[in-house]
Amino acid sequence: MHASAIAHPNVALIKYWGKRDIAENLPAVGSLSVTLGALSTETTVEFDPALKRDVLVLNGHEQPLEQGRLTACMDAFRALAGSDEYATVTSVNDFPTGAGLASSASGYAALVTAAAAALGLDQHESGSSPGSGLIDVARIGSGSAPRSLFGGVVLLSIDEHGTNCRQLTAPAEWPLSVAVAVTTESKKNITSRDGMEQSRLTSPFYEEWIHSHADDLNAGIRCAEAHDFPALGKLAEHNCLKMHSVMMTTQPALLYWSPVTLACMYKVMSLRADGIPVFFTIDAGPQLKAVCLPDALATVTAALHDVPGVLRIIAGELGEGASVADR
Ligand code: PMV
Repeated sequence: MHASAIAHPNVALIKYWGKRDIAENLPAVGSLSVTLGALSTETTVEFDPALKRDVLVLNGHEQPLEQGRLTACMDAFRALAGSDEYATVTSVNDFPTGAGLASSASGYAALVTAAAAALGLDQHESGSSPGSGLIDVARIGSGSAPRSLFGGVVLLSIDEHGTNCRQLTAPAEWPLSVAVAVTTESKKNITSRDGMEQSRLTSPFYEEWIHSHADDLNAGIRCAEAHDFPALGKLAEHNCLKMHSVMMTTQPALLYWSPVTLACMYKVMSLRADGIPVFFTIDAGPQLKAVCLPDALATVTAALHDVPGVLRIIAGELGEGASVADR
């Protein structure tokens, strides 16, 4: 009745920000992401008939503030698996938690993968990819978690039935690299979940963000299918800045960048002006992710490392989807 799984965080190149249905935690729009092989979460799920509630221990500490979404995700899992037992979930990240590095995505992807293995549930209802049941359960935990069930370049789309998720290109099929410039190890003050709802309610740009999103997503899919790195970079930076303009015009303002984030953005733009194939993206936190072609990774890593205020660089290739850990 216990199993462990490993998942990698992901970073969206065409992002989502805002919910269509808060109770179902259904994103308002689809998204396109890359899975980050250099960062990992390992999660163990142990079902126990003696427990009266689910318990989450993250990086060695119990997490009472996370109880609501843990219970929602585990309830959805129990409904899928036909089980009524609670579980202890023990999770460890090898990177900063709650700081805009998608720890909730890797966390909930690893959780559902481990929970399914613990109960012997067929995770791959058909074929070799996680089934739609598990994708929906992961989404209840975090809107970006289904993407971490898959490796390489991943598409999450939303339709009347809920969430669909699939791999567009495998890591070996279109090798890309990512250098994460860590600018703080601290947690953000406002969660994505709360922030995006504030944006929906108050940003004058929110409606346009939603309205123009399908064009960005469709263009992103075409770029990925054509392995067109320059076009994807242009589009991803535009989509990122569009999301941040919604965040900044939320009331009260969500200004996730620090001066170091901005300095890293300028550095990436100057590298590109010098002919280096690289672009940036930034989520709900001050860390900058630089996506580049593998031959450029050493140059990009060294350049970002030299930006004053950057604490460290976490760099690597694209990762695979969540998998059960052999024990
Ligand atoms: O659902 P969450 O809490 O993982 O929100 C993700 C929000 C962004 O990272 C800013 C965008 C995205 O698509 O990953």
